[in-house]
Amino acid sequence: MCTLTSLTNLVAWISRVQLLKDPPLAPKAGETAATTDCDPPKTVVVSHENGNAAHEQDKKKGRHAAVGHKSVLQSDALYQYILETSVYPRESPYQKELREITEKHPWNLMTTPPDEGQFLMLLLKLINAKNTMELGVYTGYSLLSTALALPDDGKIIAIDINRQNYELGAPVIEKAGLNHKIDFREGLILPQLDDMLLEEKYIDFFDFIFVDADKDNYVNYHERLLKLVKVGGVIGYDNTLWNGSLVAPEDVPYPKYVRHYRPFVLELNQVLAADDRIEISQIPVGDGITLCRRIK
Ligand SMILES: C[S@@+](CC[C@H](N)C(=O)[O-])C[C@H]1O[C@@H](n2cnc3c(N)ncnc32)[C@H](O)[C@@H]1O
Repeated sequence: MCTLTSLTNLVAWISRVQLLKDPPLAPKAGETAATTDCDPPKTVVVSHENGNAAHEQDKKKGRHAAVGHKSVLQSDALYQYILETSVYPRESPYQKELREITEKHPWNLMTTPPDEGQFLMLLLKLINAKNTMELGVYTGYSLLSTALALPDDGKIIAIDINRQNYELGAPVIEKAGLNHKIDFREGLILPQLDDMLLEEKYIDFFDFIFVDADKDNYVNYHERLLKLVKVGGVIGYDNTLWNGSLVAPEDVPYPKYVRHYRPFVLELNQVLAADDRIEISQIPVGDGITLCRRIK
């Protein structure tokens, strides 16, 4: 059991709050990414030989290069094919509207890509999820996707330190008639999880938990989430392929935030692989999502 509720760590988290609330601007397409301490932009990963060509191709298509390709797929054209063939035609008008609102936001690299949203929706239906939790909301693309997939009496506890960004997407969620499913809780994730652990009703409660927040805390979240998710329920950790950087040679000039979080993601992947309380599968959708089904 992890005990990172120590005063020292609380002080560290509190010192990060301001940064979480007001992270520096995300990069424009083609620029080196600026970092937010919360969930750094998920940059385009193209092979280093064809990166510039792919970027030029993106520009011709009139899409934002960085946001347009959040997949670890090495072929930009193939990713575009997936979006145009299987994702956009099935995306709801509310998701499209929220995606377009988010595209105008300076930190838009943080959003869940639409193919991952579609994957989450199918998964939630496959497991008949009803009670879910989302850690890391931003403008709410994955939250809206979850709300669309849940039954009418489904519920989502959604936690984020930044209410302002959530409020950008909230009118779309309201227009979709999904407000009744959402319990947005503003604040830091870890103390809120600790509070939930004190309430009996949340023990073994959730069918699904989506974790898309601060990568350096995922291992700390994991111990807590294993008590909150029910046996047979699923936790999905986002960004577990971390821009492809996990297997890249040392000299690849990744932005600072990629290099900073890389060891935490490497550690998480090892922790999950060694944990006999879960069955896992690491899915190369988006920036990688590892599904963990609690078995004990
Ligand atoms: C990648 S974004 C979430 C993207 C979102 N799932 C979507 O679909 O757009 C990460 C979010 O986590 C939040 N966050 C990061 N660390 C946090 C923490 N320790 N406590 C609360 N929120 C945090 C940030 O404010 C940010 O909105």
